[in-house]
Amino acid sequence: MCGIIAAATEKSVGKLLVQGLYKMEYRGYDSAGVALHQVKDIAHLRSLGKVEKLESKMKKQKPRGKIGIAHTRWATHGKPSEENAHPHVSKDRVFIVHNGIIENYIELKEQLSKKGYVFVSQTDSELIAHQLDFFLSQKHNMFEAMSLLKKKLQGAFAIAAIDQSDDSHFYLMRNKSPLLLGISEEGMFAASDPLALVDITNEFVFLEDGDVVEASASEYKIFDENEKRAIRKITKLNISSEAMSKNGYRHFMEKEIYEQPTAILNTLDGRIGGEDVLENIFGEGSNDLLSNVERIQIVAAGTSLHAGRVAANWFSAIAQIPTQIDYASEYRYKNPYVDKNTLFLTISQSGETADTLGALHYAKERDYLGSLTICNVPTSSLARESDFMLLTNAGPEIGVASTKAFTTQLAALMLLALSLAKARNLNPKLRTRVVSALRSLPEIISESLNLKPKIIRIAKEVAKKDNALFLGRGIFYPIAQEGSLKLKEISYIHAEAYPAGELKHGPLALIDKDMPVIALAPENELAEKLISNLEEVKARGGKLFVIGNAAGNMTLKPKNLINLPECDFLLTPILYTIPLQILSYEVALLRGTDIDQPRNLAKSVTVE
Ligand code: AGP
Repeated sequence: MCGIIAAATEKSVGKLLVQGLYKMEYRGYDSAGVALHQVKDIAHLRSLGKVEKLESKMKKQKPRGKIGIAHTRWATHGKPSEENAHPHVSKDRVFIVHNGIIENYIELKEQLSKKGYVFVSQTDSELIAHQLDFFLSQKHNMFEAMSLLKKKLQGAFAIAAIDQSDDSHFYLMRNKSPLLLGISEEGMFAASDPLALVDITNEFVFLEDGDVVEASASEYKIFDENEKRAIRKITKLNISSEAMSKNGYRHFMEKEIYEQPTAILNTLDGRIGGEDVLENIFGEGSNDLLSNVERIQIVAAGTSLHAGRVAANWFSAIAQIPTQIDYASEYRYKNPYVDKNTLFLTISQSGETADTLGALHYAKERDYLGSLTICNVPTSSLARESDFMLLTNAGPEIGVASTKAFTTQLAALMLLALSLAKARNLNPKLRTRVVSALRSLPEIISESLNLKPKIIRIAKEVAKKDNALFLGRGIFYPIAQEGSLKLKEISYIHAEAYPAGELKHGPLALIDKDMPVIALAPENELAEKLISNLEEVKARGGKLFVIGNAAGNMTLKPKNLINLPECDFLLTPILYTIPLQILSYEVALLRGTDIDQPRNLAKSVTVE
């Protein structure tokens, strides 16, 4: 999704802004641009496509300026094009970059058109530059113009702006879209993502909704939603630049798949002791909350939603708690009934997914027992705004396709299931068994990573096809859904997931030699029934690939069968995810897609 970076220093900032844009590439974008204050004018460069293209334009034109703003755009209003790329400008004077959506843009555009402003883009963002210019023409200074603008705009926005007649400041505004200041001896910086500033500083100020900021190379002033001067806490973040490099792997996704044993170790670290989960791991006072929980409402999107679906099974089986689960984008609009003592649980890698955050804001106005988030980014809006949280500690996930975020979410959700059971004095023996199994999980996952050569053989078959079907039963259905999502998002193969027993109710009609069917077949109480479902596929000439140890007595070619290491059955959903991730990665590699930044997708979806 869109990325903003701004800088004010005593040296030229062009290179630094472009480096920041490179660091935000993982978020997904379609065009990039920069505006650099050269005192006599503002250099304005934009390009469709990769940041590389913008960089080569800059190398040719050599703009120099100590103040600047830059942006990567992910199209919402108006197609990806150079005219729609940011920064947008009004009368060669005001330059802006914007993340988010201006909901009342049609009305504001009309008002400005009547005042003679000419729009050259199809975006909802360009009006911001014209509106600021209009306020400046009414004898307001830039800070006043930003404050007046704030009152006009509706929607979610993070904005950075510069004014040609002011060569020492950049200005910022935030409402429901992430934006932060980076503070360093070299100058003042801002970005929508701390990773953009990782090589510049480790000191950040996270802006709040309604904040307007004036920043120069030596100082910054924050004014809150009531226009009062605000002093905000400086947060130190130690993000290693190694976390931002591929470290010898071909893609971030590949690196992140292989980081999973360590990532899971980090999720468990300090949360389990002796034979049980530790107290208050979700924050001070969380034990009291958990002992009162009678129901759970989960809200999440995409991969995080799949983690929630697995967890709903665990909450029921381990802690005897019923769970309702909803897509974040749907939850608010179904007038949800809130039963007494219901915990509101969000799951999110980024902690900035607009739908999930919107759901939390809605839930805070309803009668929930409290809110808890399972999140990977400690400084994110979800982490800051939830009553309690458990960080997954997976480290930055750069590949758009979620891998280590998912398996660490599952590990964290298992800790929640165990904590709920503990708070209700349930299943002590089972808790001890699962805690011990969790300790062995990183090693078992490492072992499963060695299956890659076998998975490549399957990938070669799947890569030739245009469709694929993923099958699972019970708790493995959400894992099949995750496998299908992974394949479609990075290889662009149309894939669907079904609970295997549903096949005969329709999808069986799709089966022929061109339909690869990837089935998850663990040895559990559903194994026999699943195998019968798979025999039905085979009998109809379907191309069957089975992952799991229950398929031993089927007559399958060895290359179509992948056995997995032994693992406690409650944790098998985590283990079975690994071959599916490797399969998608290898298929995408064979099809030559842009694995880390698949077309049309964004890492952190900050618009509704
Ligand atoms: C998964 O591979 C996707 N990138 C996507 O479905 C993602 O899980 C979803 O957008 C939710 O993101 P979040 O976990 O950051 O809230």
